Amino acid sequence: MKILGIETSCDETGVAVYAENQGIVADQVYTQQLHQDYGGVVPELASRDHIRKLLPMVESVLQQARLKRTDLDGIAYTAGPGLVGALFVGAVFARTLGWALGVPTVGVHHMEGHLLAPLLEANKPSYPFLALLVSGGHTLLVQVESLGAYTVLGESIDDAVGEAFDKTAKLLGLGYPGGAKLAALAEQGSAGLFEFPRPMLDRPGLNFSFSGLKTAVNTAWQACKQDDAAKRDIAYAFQEAVVETLVKKCERAIMQTGMKYLVVAGGVSANLHLRQQLTHLLQSHQGEVYFPQPRYCTDNGAMIAYAGFCRLKQGQQDDLSLNVRPRWPLTDLQTLQNLRTA
Ligand code: KG4
Ligand code: ZN
Repeated sequence: MKILGIETSCDETGVAVYAENQGIVADQVYTQQLHQDYGGVVPELASRDHIRKLLPMVESVLQQARLKRTDLDGIAYTAGPGLVGALFVGAVFARTLGWALGVPTVGVHHMEGHLLAPLLEANKPSYPFLALLVSGGHTLLVQVESLGAYTVLGESIDDAVGEAFDKTAKLLGLGYPGGAKLAALAEQGSAGLFEFPRPMLDRPGLNFSFSGLKTAVNTAWQACKQDDAAKRDIAYAFQEAVVETLVKKCERAIMQTGMKYLVVAGGVSANLHLRQQLTHLLQSHQGEVYFPQPRYCTDNGAMIAYAGFCRLKQGQQDDLSLNVRPRWPLTDLQTLQNLRTA
């Protein structure tokens, strides 16, 4: 089976081909540049840029994979959550191409795509496992029994962790989206001058909250000299606070469930400090942590192609209606069990 994957939920156009027994055979991502002047993603501009990029990228990915359109056995696209217009561009493109080629299509949940990305690696976990999903739009701790069988153990009650990285980066004048730049700056900073709260660690449960941390950073920034040294040390203290919070919640989830495998995915899973600390944590619990390779941490078509493959292989496919879901709880997904009895 060869599956084309299309990701257009936000400001990345991602296109890839997953081939059964071979893995990802072609993969391209285009990050839209036109939002930089606005300090955030402008939905209508995002939709239009996906329209411009999608067809040439699909042609180019097929060439890279040395495949013809007619070699494809199915098409997967992100059906939600995300920006409604951007999702529609990918959905209409995928459905039309599927119709023309006479192959099935399947709408994929963006966060399931992230969640399954570590399974593209040679060393991958077996079910069941815990998943920490940390992106620009979501912060979720999930118990994963099997494909589609997800229990959300905890989530952010306000800002997502990537959003907190981006807002803090913007405050420090690092541009948008500045999460990766903030993380790089944090590597040069040191402890001592700034200390930020570890949100919600003093309360039971597995939920997160990051908006207070952002406010604490703002207060510290307004009160300090605002030079390069302060920027580095604030970045360091911010990253320490975020990573320690995430690690402690993962530890609680491990203790609560007794699970030994942890999958970490989404844009923030590229963060090196988070990777180090979670690796230590799982070692101390005689378990193992699994990350996607860096290019599959942020939004991409490969994870959508793979998630689509998993579902198409089990017989799931779209009916004749065309739907996207800008809001779509992960817990609403069909499990394999449901698919088999449907
Ligand atoms: O998964 P993703 O590409 O998009 C969403 O689904 O939201 O995640 C993007 C997020 C952004 O907030 C970005 O700043 C953050 O991931 N990010 C990072 C790093 N690389 C990307 N945050 C912290 N450290 C990084 N190295
Ligand atoms: Zn994402």
